[in-house]
Amino acid sequence: MVLHGFPRKILWNERAGDAIHAILSEEGVETAVVVTDKVISGLEAFKELLGTLESRGIKVRVYDRVTPEPPFTVADEIASLAREAGAKAIIAVGGGSVIDAAKAALVRLVKPGLDLHDVAPFNPLGLDRGGILLIAVPTTSGTGSDASHAMVLTEEAGGVRRKVAMAHYDLVPYASVLDPRLPGGAPRRLRVWTAMDALTHALETLASTEATPFTDALALSAAEIIFTRLEDALNGDEEATAMIHAAATMAGIAFTNGGLGLAHAIGHPLGAALGTHHGATVGILLPRIVSLYYSDERARAKYERLRRILEELDGAEHRDDLAGHIYRLYDSIGAPKRLRDLGVEKPRLEAVAARVAEEAFHDPDIAYAPIVPPPEDIEKLILNLY
Ligand SMILES: [Fe+2]
Repeated sequence: MVLHGFPRKILWNERAGDAIHAILSEEGVETAVVVTDKVISGLEAFKELLGTLESRGIKVRVYDRVTPEPPFTVADEIASLAREAGAKAIIAVGGGSVIDAAKAALVRLVKPGLDLHDVAPFNPLGLDRGGILLIAVPTTSGTGSDASHAMVLTEEAGGVRRKVAMAHYDLVPYASVLDPRLPGGAPRRLRVWTAMDALTHALETLASTEATPFTDALALSAAEIIFTRLEDALNGDEEATAMIHAAATMAGIAFTNGGLGLAHAIGHPLGAALGTHHGATVGILLPRIVSLYYSDERARAKYERLRRILEELDGAEHRDDLAGHIYRLYDSIGAPKRLRDLGVEKPRLEAVAARVAEEAFHDPDIAYAPIVPPPEDIEKLILNLY
């Protein structure tokens, strides 16, 4: 058993500016590039963060042009800004797209000769010896990118947009800074969708063929926190918001070291084909995949353990499996349960289902699924998501 990657430092429930400054001064870093997007760069919390760093003598350059589903070219733009500034740290303040763009920039900065497509788990990278710190400050609670080894970029070839997922343990950020005020200020719908992603990470890792006692502990706790505290967090409870922010990172560490499964293997091509949000897409798949995994003895035992914990906390006995708990959670927070809830039209789904089912078999996450149905069953499952 090998555990590969954890952030070196996790600073939880701290003001982001103070936490980042503490890391930079400990490491003797005086110049940094802050990577973000146009929405976040306009927020008061972001200006406060920059103000804190600048008032304490850190020279900061800001790159705020990351877009959702960032293209490969963003990596070079950030890397050349960092090179020009002589930055010794890249600080990513944003959701998954921003953090992924910063990971790609780190590769371009430290290994300029390497094509990003060649970033793969077993090709040596040596980024940790590059002398540049990657500090992730997530503004959503969900992707786990602040603690994960994965990055997703988008490329366009022959008029077709394609998402490319890459992973390497050197991409795990040096530090994850978890300031719950940042996700607390995000729009409710985004908070619901990203939480669905975090729950999917936790429950897929729990059932993964590569799960270990270490990933089980993180995944089980993350799932319990999401089931019991998400509604309060969405209703503005600050302590619950901090807990959900921790849970998303815990689930990120869990899947980085334990693998995902079918919800992500299907969710990646499905989301790309329909243009639906990643978290909402895998979250809609999740209860179906959990039900499917019940026929695997090991997965069922873990899901039943979680179900018993939830029922004990809940004080109520429900006559269903863990999927029933997921649906009750979704009802309580107004989460989408079908693709039609995301505005997907049936003919569009029917047009892509067969291709998506086939592409799911090429997704690396399928390797961790305890059960893999034949393509025709996956196609049926996809059509039933409508
Ligand atoms: Fe995900």
